[in-house]
This record gives sequence, C-alpha cells and structure tokens, in this order.
Amino acid sequence: MRAEDPRPVRLAEYRPSDFLIDAVHLDVSLDPEATRVTARLAIRPNPLGPENAALKLDGEDLNLVSAEIDGAPLRVDDLDVTPSSLTLPNPPRGPFELTLTTLVDPSANTRLMGLYRSNGAYCTQCEAEGFRRITYFLDRPDVLAVYTTRIEGPEAETPILLSNGNLVETGPAGDGRHFAVWHDPHPKPSYLFALVAGDLGVVEDAFVTMSGRRVALKVFVEHGKEDRAHHAMESIKASMRWDEETFGREYDLDVFMVVAVSYFNMGAMENKGLNVFNDKYVLASPETATDGDYANIEAIIAHEYFHNWTGNRITCRDWFQLCLKEGLTVFRDQEFTSDMRSRPVKRISDVRGLRSVQFAEDAGPLAHPVRPQIYHEINNFYTPTVYEKGAEVIRMLKTLIGPEAFRAGMDLYFDRHDGQACTIEQFIACFAEVSGHDMSQFLRWYDQAGTPEVDIRTAYDPDRKTFTIDATQKTPPTPGQQFKQAMVIPLALGLVDEDGSDIPLVVGGAHAGPVIALTAENTRIVFENVERRPVPSLFRNFSAPVKLRSDQTVEDLLFLARKDSDPFNRWQAVQTVALRGLVAGVAALREGREPTEEPRLAEAIGRAFDPAETDCAYAAQIAALPSEGDVAREIGEDVDPDAIHSARSYLKASLRQRLAEPLAAAFDRLAERGPYSPDAAAAGRRALKIAALDLLAAGGERSGVERAFDLYKTASNMTDRVMALQVLSLHATAEREEALEDFAQRYGTDPLLIDKWFLIQASAPLPDTLDRVQSLMASPLFDMKNPNRVRSLIGAFASGNPTQFNKADGRGYGFLADVVTELDATNPQVAARLLGAFRTWRSLEPQRRRLAESALQRLAALPRLSADVGDIVRRALA
Ligand code: ARG
Ligand code: ZN
Repeated sequence: MRAEDPRPVRLAEYRPSDFLIDAVHLDVSLDPEATRVTARLAIRPNPLGPENAALKLDGEDLNLVSAEIDGAPLRVDDLDVTPSSLTLPNPPRGPFELTLTTLVDPSANTRLMGLYRSNGAYCTQCEAEGFRRITYFLDRPDVLAVYTTRIEGPEAETPILLSNGNLVETGPAGDGRHFAVWHDPHPKPSYLFALVAGDLGVVEDAFVTMSGRRVALKVFVEHGKEDRAHHAMESIKASMRWDEETFGREYDLDVFMVVAVSYFNMGAMENKGLNVFNDKYVLASPETATDGDYANIEAIIAHEYFHNWTGNRITCRDWFQLCLKEGLTVFRDQEFTSDMRSRPVKRISDVRGLRSVQFAEDAGPLAHPVRPQIYHEINNFYTPTVYEKGAEVIRMLKTLIGPEAFRAGMDLYFDRHDGQACTIEQFIACFAEVSGHDMSQFLRWYDQAGTPEVDIRTAYDPDRKTFTIDATQKTPPTPGQQFKQAMVIPLALGLVDEDGSDIPLVVGGAHAGPVIALTAENTRIVFENVERRPVPSLFRNFSAPVKLRSDQTVEDLLFLARKDSDPFNRWQAVQTVALRGLVAGVAALREGREPTEEPRLAEAIGRAFDPAETDCAYAAQIAALPSEGDVAREIGEDVDPDAIHSARSYLKASLRQRLAEPLAAAFDRLAERGPYSPDAAAAGRRALKIAALDLLAAGGERSGVERAFDLYKTASNMTDRVMALQVLSLHATAEREEALEDFAQRYGTDPLLIDKWFLIQASAPLPDTLDRVQSLMASPLFDMKNPNRVRSLIGAFASGNPTQFNKADGRGYGFLADVVTELDATNPQVAARLLGAFRTWRSLEPQRRRLAESALQRLAALPRLSADVGDIVRRALA
C-alpha cells in the first residue's frame, strides 16, 4: 500500500515543470507478472525553469532495472530512487535522452490504475496519476509529449495490440510473440496514454469527416458480445457528426477506437484515439439492456469523444483545472443528448441529478469549489461539483452572453489554445474578449463553494401598475470558506398573464430580460406597465444552480404547472407543491399526526396520465415525486429517513386512491406493442407506464403488485422486465421473491444483469435488506475485485437506500465501514467512492448522527488507511 503523503497540493503553489519531455518511445513487452517497460524520453530543461534543477520523476510500484543517459549507463549513486520518485540530482543542462527500464506486475495491480489485467486482457487507466505506475515520468498534465509505443506480446493470448494514435507497423517477434507500433502525432499529457492487449472481438465501421477524411471506427468487446456493440458504434458516429455541426470540430486521427473492459474504476476514459470504457457503458441489446442503458451509452460515448477537443487537444495545466475539461465536456454531452432526444426531459433529469448529488455534496463536509484550491488526493475530486456544477457554470456563461457570443468564445478558445495545457482564466478570457463582458465576478463560480440561496419576494402595485421583485442571495459557509461574496446569478424569468402568455418586461422604460443578472446581495427589479398581477415564473430552465425560496403560493404554482410556457418550470411547479406537502407530511408524522393532503396535487399529477398527453417522457417526469433525498435536503437538519419514507409512501398511496382509474387506463394503454426500439419516444412510453405501475402498487396494493408481476413475466424487453422487478422489489410479497428468483435463473451468467439484480435488492426499503446484501456478498456472483459488482451491491445500498443504510441502530454505517476497510487494501479509489454515502451525515437526527460519526471515527483510527480513504474520512469528520 502506498505510504500516505500528508502534504497537500495547493493551486497557489503551482510552478511550471523544471523539465519538459518532448518525445516518448515506449517499448512494452507484455508478461502477466513482469511486464518490461523501456521508456526512451527526450528531455530538456524548461527555458522558464530555474538553472541547475534536479530532475525528479514520479513513480509508483515500479521495479527499476536499468537507466541510461544518452546511451551511457547510470550508476546507482547517480540516482535517488524512493517508492514514489526517481531523481537525477545532476542531469545534463541541455537536451538529453533518458532511457529507463522497469518491470511492472499487471496481475498484482488490484487498484486498477496503471497497467492491469481485466478478464485476461491487459489494459491501462492513467488519469489522473496512473502513468507513473507504468514508468517513471513527469506525470503531470502540463508536460506534453509525442508518443510512439511498441507493444509486444504472445500472439495467442494477445492477438490485439492497441495504443494511441495511428498504427504504423506490425510483425512477428519470434517465440510465438508479435508486436505493433503505434504513433500519436498529437502531443499529449501522460494521463491520456493507453494500451490495451488481449483477445477481443471487434465491430468496425467508418466515418467520413466534414473535410472528407475517412476515419476507421472500431469497438472492441469480449468475444461473443459483438452484437451488443452496435449501439455504441452508432453513438460514435452521431457524436462525430454533432461536434462538427455544433462546434465545427473534426476528428484528427485515422482511427478512433473504443474498448469495453469489465474491470474498471470509473465510467470511461478519453485516452487519445483509444477510449477505454467500463463495459456497462458499451454493451447493449434489446435482450440485455434497458432504455436507461441505451441512453447512458449514447451520452458517455459522446462525452469521451467530445474530450478529444475539450481535454485532449486543449488540456489542463494542473489538476485544479479539472473542470476546464470535465465541466465543459459534460455541458457538451448534455447539449448533444438534448439535440438527440428531448431537451426539456434532459434538462429535468440533469437537474434532478444535480440536486440529488451535487447539492447534497455542497451542503455537507465534502463541499469544495468547482475549482478546488487544495487537495490531498486528486482521485477524490472527480466529483459532481467538478463535473455537474462545472457544466452548470458553462451553461450560465452561455445564458449570460448569449449563444452567438458563446460559440464565438469557443471558437477563439480552440483557435488560441490548441495544443496547450490551460487554466480556467484563459478559458474565460476568450468569452470576455468576444462578448465585451467583464467576467471577474463570474469567476467566483469557480472558486466559491456552496449552493447559493436566492430568496425572492414579489409585490404588485395596482395603482402604479408595477410588479416588484426583491431578490436576496446568500451562499452558506462551506469548509474553509466562512464568508461568501455575491455571485452573478442569471435569473431567467417570465411574468405570466392569465392566459399563460408572457407579458412584455419593461424596466426603467426599456425592454428587459428575459435574463436578468443578479449581481448584488440584494436586487430590486421594478417591472412597469403591468396591468394585472402576473404570476412570476422564476429561474426558467433552471437558469442557475441555486436554491430558490419564494413567496409563490400553491395557487401560483398550480397555475404555472398548467400555463407556463417554460416546460421546465411547469415540471418544477408540480415538484415544489409535492415537496412542500412532503415536508409538511414529515413534520406531521414526527408529531404523531396524519399528513394532510393537497388534492390539487393529485390533479396535477393525474394530468400526466391523461390520454391527451402525448409527450410521455415529459409526463413521466411530472409523475415522478421528489425523491427521499430531495425531501431530506429540503428539511436540511435533524433528518429522520424513516419519517421521510413514510410520508412519501403515504402520498403515493393517496395518489393511487385518487387516480386509480386513470393510472390503470394509462398502464393498459401504454402496453408494449411491436418490436422493441430504444428510441426516446418509445422509452418515454415505457417510463410513463412504469410510473403508473409504481403508483398502482403503492403500499403493496394487491392489484398493482399483480400487474407488476404479470408485466415481469410477460415482458418483451429488458426495460419492462427490470422496471417491473424494481416495482415488485419495494413490497414484501411472494411475487417479489418469485420474480427475483426467476431473474437470477434467467440471467445469472451475465454479470451486467446480475448487477441490476444486485442493485434492485440492495435498494429495497425493507428491513431485511442489509442481511440480504450481506448474504449476496457471500455468493459466487459477487466479486470484491470488480468495481461494477461492488457499486451495484454495496454502492446502491449505501447511496441509494436511505432508510436501510441509515438504520436507526447504526448497522448500515458499521457495515459500510467494514467493507471500506476491506476494500481499501486492494482498491482505495473505489473504497473512497463508497464513503461518499456519508456526505450528508451531519444533517441526520442526533442518534443516527452519533452512530455515523462513530463509524467514521472507527475508520479514522485504522493504522493503515490509503490516501484516498484517509482524505475522505478526515474531511467528513472535520
Ligand atoms: N476523464 C474521465 C471522464 O471522462 C474520468 C476519469 C476519472 N478518473 C479518476 N481518477 N477518477 O470523465
Ligand atoms: Zn470526462
């Protein structure tokens, strides 16, 4: 295990590298336990750096065999080798070639960083700091080199030999071995290096770029799974076309490859020309994948492909700038999905995700700015704040300067910084320049953590015919940031007239809006010529990642739910009414009273099931109540997860009673006809059908459970089958057990389907769930070394099951602490991820809070914690 380095890395201490590496020649001779890596590095002192600097290369878990400078062997005392570095105290003062030979053991690599084995194949993961586990290197993103990689391996076991760039040579290497040489002409940081070798199947296609170049496309999967690679292939082509049409960006190598591997710490990785994917984000067929899988694959293929320009051609100067590539690329993939599918539905589901994970992170001890200023372990900063809030910041930028200036700014960024490793300031400067806007206040979005709270009060003056909005913003303290400055908050709004139309916005005699920038702590906006009291529609399309408090009444909200021209706010209005009701319900239950009901909520939700509603995907979003996590965040402190679950169940049961007929009618009307298609419209119909089913079965109502069981048995596609099982799993019935048993029988040999089966059981809000999770861990289907299994069983339990993880007796916390302790010894990165389940522990009611704290303290007291887990534990407890 890596020794813990308690010294943090600080943005303020950034210094350019003392040396640069212009070219890398890697020679990798594959062997399961002793892969020999010879790295020839063309090094020169950085002209910007100090004279006489020592050369200190990063390294980890490496076995140094030999070292030469310009062909002359180095002696041991010319070198200082530690577990994490190799230093040349007196390197040449001009350019030189350093040749290092190291041995690495891919089979022993359970961290899945660097070179490791996945189901017999060799693969690599280098972001953020994995390349140093392959050879000694300046493993930092601002050192850009041209790579040539020769891979040699046994032809029988590794017929496929892949690396970045274009293939330049292949041939026999004697002794049953063969080799391939790859050359990547585009200078890149080491984190974008990749190598894959194995016996894999491939699906091939081609794409002709906007300038007429033909690019070979290849998707590599395990043999026998080729028929599950077509959706990924189609998604590559769609992504390439979209980036040409939307941003004018063309692909830049002769070949683009995607490899699906079954052991992978994250979702996917954008290595230049050779994207490596978790197989769950590649493989899909109607028999094995749900609508959600199809949508995820399309989005993640796009995300990694889009990194080719936002991340690879222009990369990050240092890891503090991670959002430069991630926030921007998430924004780009969100836009892609919006264009491919439904824009409002995509926006709603992104905002649901942002609130449930990022707002939760921002409100707890792990809160950090989109661009952190300090880190102990960079792996712990691949967070919803960097990714999803980072994307919101880009979206606000576009909202504030307008789409034309945004595109012009992007063009300037690509033009000016192609081939460079950049900072957020350089990126933002491009938009300041093209738009003429002063962006200095806007930059606070990168440096100030926490979710701003915006309070809006309104007043109509019938005599003056004015409508006044008073907006106050406040950002709560977060770790290390007690006091906050005012942010630039784009408020997109409309004043809605009786008939649903927007009245013209006039401020100070001039036309205003529809976006008003709130830049001060208090802003008053007085709209003129307002004939009747309008209903304000605030933060349309979720124009800023803030929490809104307002004096909107339930009447106003129900009006907006019907009449607002903004589809996001029609949805938001229903959510807000439901959320207010649920919060009141929780308070009532905790005081021993029955929750009171808002009959008009049932009416609003009932409209989703009206036969006249043609946008089913959108209707399904209207029908989906706020989650238990949403309610917990709204309550904010002294949270009792059981009371929240009860209040929500109570509401669902009451909706079932009130809407029994329309729900049953919708369920029948939406029954599957004809062959399965994963397209957005068909997926929307299934989503609405399942929303109806979920309500029909609320409270374990027999007829609903029977319907779910019937759908489970007769399902003609995986979405219906999994979703029916999901509904059944919520209620302790015989049908539930029978269906779970049947699912295991049918799909027990397919790991990705077992993951769904694990996840469904681990998420059930039933008292025996933890026991089940523990016995499933003992089953041969579980594998602690496989991150997908760990996430679908333990991750789903810890992060997706509020009542059972937060059991009042603390067993859930103790269980997670035990698993994290065990996993930390083999895969610290995944172990640290699981601990994210504690991100909201401080908002729990006192008893649970004490128990959660003592589980964290037990971890903190362990003698040997990884940097990854140690960092999360210390911050969570701070
Ligand atoms: N860059 C990858 C992406 O596209 C993710 C890499 C995650 N790396 C990590 N160390 N967690 O999002
Ligand atoms: Zn990314």
